[in-house]
Amino acid sequence: MNVAAKPSRAGGSSLLFSPFRLRDVTLPNRIVIAPMQMYKAGPDGKATDWHFQHLAKYAVGGAGTVMTEGLIIDPIGRNTYGDLGLWDDAQIAPLRRITEFLRAQGSVPAAQIHHAGPKSSRQRPWEGLGSLGDAEAARGERPWTPVSSTEAKSVSHWRAPRALSIDEIAALIDAYGQGARRADEAGFDVLDVHAAHGYLIHSFLSPVANKREDGYGGDLAGRMRLALEIAESIRRHWPKGKPLFFRLSCVDWRKDLDTREDGWTIEDSCVLARELAARGVDLIDCSSGGIRAENSMMDYAKQRKKLQRGHQVPYAAHIRRETGVPTMAVGVILDGPQAEAILAEGHADLIAIAREALYDPHWALHAARALGIDSDWQKWPPSYGWWLELRDRIGIED
Ligand SMILES: Cc1cc2nc3c(=O)[nH]c(=O)nc-3n(C[C@H](O)[C@H](O)[C@H](O)COP(=O)(O)O)c2cc1C
Repeated sequence: MNVAAKPSRAGGSSLLFSPFRLRDVTLPNRIVIAPMQMYKAGPDGKATDWHFQHLAKYAVGGAGTVMTEGLIIDPIGRNTYGDLGLWDDAQIAPLRRITEFLRAQGSVPAAQIHHAGPKSSRQRPWEGLGSLGDAEAARGERPWTPVSSTEAKSVSHWRAPRALSIDEIAALIDAYGQGARRADEAGFDVLDVHAAHGYLIHSFLSPVANKREDGYGGDLAGRMRLALEIAESIRRHWPKGKPLFFRLSCVDWRKDLDTREDGWTIEDSCVLARELAARGVDLIDCSSGGIRAENSMMDYAKQRKKLQRGHQVPYAAHIRRETGVPTMAVGVILDGPQAEAILAEGHADLIAIAREALYDPHWALHAARALGIDSDWQKWPPSYGWWLELRDRIGIED
């Protein structure tokens, strides 16, 4: 098992810009672009120029690790018809074009693999995120029945899922292994398994969703079984030298709902983190929520509730402290000094950035400037940095 040590300042005066080694892979800094679905693939699930530019700009922008959106390992697990796929060997080549570019910029290419489970067969966010219906069917996006741990719906007006059979679970576990093999063949060096946000794996982990009475439900061991068998399957196909992450919803309920007794808890996450680490998982990517509509981001927006800066950092800190397994913090991490403080306090090993990177693809380079470790623009690609340094020397009159 990896032992999460207090970070060292070996990389200079900034922890955020110090390297981090896991297995045979050295991440050049602690900044990871978080997985962000674009809903921009065609029905073949192949990466397009949109996906290329989306990921390429973060590597140019100095992020040490650039992670894809959740790549779907079985078409029945697509959120929407726009999802990127990894269920077919034909999907490897356009992804390889992306990994080659990321590596050439000095970033580590990372992939997330994903199955949306009960949240499959939906509209894209800007179409409403509801279940696919007649309007979508009329333009060729026919709905299908999602699969889950049980028949319960996540949201009352969504299409009801059906429970996976034991044979289907065995096939699914193999599909994750095949997804890992394809991710390796596409040139990714880090793999993150999406087990959060109410999607398929989370629907097995959480007692809120999982009402199965066979060996994949019931007590904590039964509910964790799918996640652990997926980790084992992936490790059979994913090279020994390459790190494996798991993204968890570390708690089912956000802070104001913490008192509910029937959800997945931070203690459950610690038990799972230890078991995953024993099966070759190197880092826990610490998110939260999503098992039901009432604790989703959308619901927060509807109720005009505010999210605190770094609201999920305490989960990364707790798991790191209690289990010794390295963690990644994500969620409302806005700038370099905030990220640096999270590392300095020993709360996490890596920092993932999503919406701030959409707003500012050069987030990492700006963080280095804000931390005072790149006053001469040396971290910028010379095609940009040379001119920006000259701009400084010339000065601008108001
Ligand atoms: C456009 C967009 C798409 C997302 N898609 C995914 C995804 O594919 N997989 C995932 O685990 N999380 C996904 N997320 C969640 C982010 O990875 C991240 O956890 C969340 O946005 C909180 O981080 P932030 O405050 O830096 O945005 C997505 C977020 C955004 C904004």
